[in-house]
Amino acid sequence: MFDLIVKGGTLPDGQVTDIGIQGGKITAMEALGSAQAKRVVDATGDLVSPPFVDPHFHMDATLSYGLPRINASGTLLEGIGLWGELKQVMTQDEVVERALTYCDWATSMGLLAIRSHVDTCDDRLLGVEALLHVREQVKDYIDLQLVAFPQDGFYRDPTARDNTLRALDMGVDVVGGIPHFERTMADGKASVRELCEIAAQRGLQVDLHCDETDDPQSRHIETLAFETQRLGLQGRVAGSHLTSMHSMDNYYVSKLLPLIAEAEINAIPNPLINIVLQGRHDTYPKRRGLTRVKEMLAHGINVGWGQDCVLDPWYSLGTADMLDVAFMGLHVAQMTSPQEMRTCFDMVTTNNAKTMGLDDYGLYVGAKASLVILDANDPVEALRLRATRLCVIANGRVVSQTPRADATLSLEGRPERSRRRHRPHTA
Ligand code: FE2
Repeated sequence: MFDLIVKGGTLPDGQVTDIGIQGGKITAMEALGSAQAKRVVDATGDLVSPPFVDPHFHMDATLSYGLPRINASGTLLEGIGLWGELKQVMTQDEVVERALTYCDWATSMGLLAIRSHVDTCDDRLLGVEALLHVREQVKDYIDLQLVAFPQDGFYRDPTARDNTLRALDMGVDVVGGIPHFERTMADGKASVRELCEIAAQRGLQVDLHCDETDDPQSRHIETLAFETQRLGLQGRVAGSHLTSMHSMDNYYVSKLLPLIAEAEINAIPNPLINIVLQGRHDTYPKRRGLTRVKEMLAHGINVGWGQDCVLDPWYSLGTADMLDVAFMGLHVAQMTSPQEMRTCFDMVTTNNAKTMGLDDYGLYVGAKASLVILDANDPVEALRLRATRLCVIANGRVVSQTPRADATLSLEGRPERSRRRHRPHTA
């Protein structure tokens, strides 16, 4: 007797199978015939995927768009200034309420693991307390990992260092930083070194906002890779954004990419935000401001798309949909071959799970029973349609259902069938 059986779904690799779930775990992946279950969900003809994973988000700022005003220039720097104004007036209850609303959106989109940065440049650590509370509130359905993020600079802000250490003492999971926002290149480099040492001492992961600028001289990723190797942190470090790499000298990048690969750094480009914020100081030609995604993948570097922002001082749209993120990413990075589009789907599922170090993630016997059923034939069609999340299952429980969306046409002589699905000739 199973708690739940998901019948006849198609896995991302094309395999068709039933999935038996018991005690929050996947306990069978085979034809289950007439096996008994308390509940059966029919996924025949639909894509069954492990849940979406977002390795880069700001849940303390989300859904605050327009508070206390709009970002008029659209730049990263005005966004940081605006966020500084909001921090002065927001309350802990407001942060909790906005974050929980976002978690509801995420759940409905099958986004069940999120790494959120939380600003530690606030002597009250209001956002930290709020998101620690939210992490506890949502733990039965969302893996929420928190990064201690000194938004105003680990050294640049006079109390950021102490507050970041306090946040880690309070139970924040990952060490963050922003070396390109320190006053000098030397301070940026020193911050990378100390932040990695803190992580090594405490046995934590590192995730830095790294080189989020169009300045090709911003090379903190080099220091991050070096420190990762020096301290034996391979596989436990992420570089977020890395947009300066877009503008770097090609010869320098030819040396840099193998260094990043050797250090097993996980890379997190954030295409919606990078395409909006970067290149704002250019006239024409105007740079895309996305890091070198295909080139990193070709070097064996683990790369995954991040969402970064939804309705906040830096970004005025967003729906917690990682398929939107991957859709933008595949356009901006020109990853349009069938294989590359498939990779973009992996980048918002398995690649991001690797970055976050998630245990028991995936669709196999023994894995955590978290999965999403999509109204699509395969991962590429899921991207094309940003397909409806028909059913979301977290830890063995159905937590969200959305009706299939299709137009009903009334045309003489035309057969009734789905107007959206399509099997490509290359399949
Ligand atoms: Fe960010």
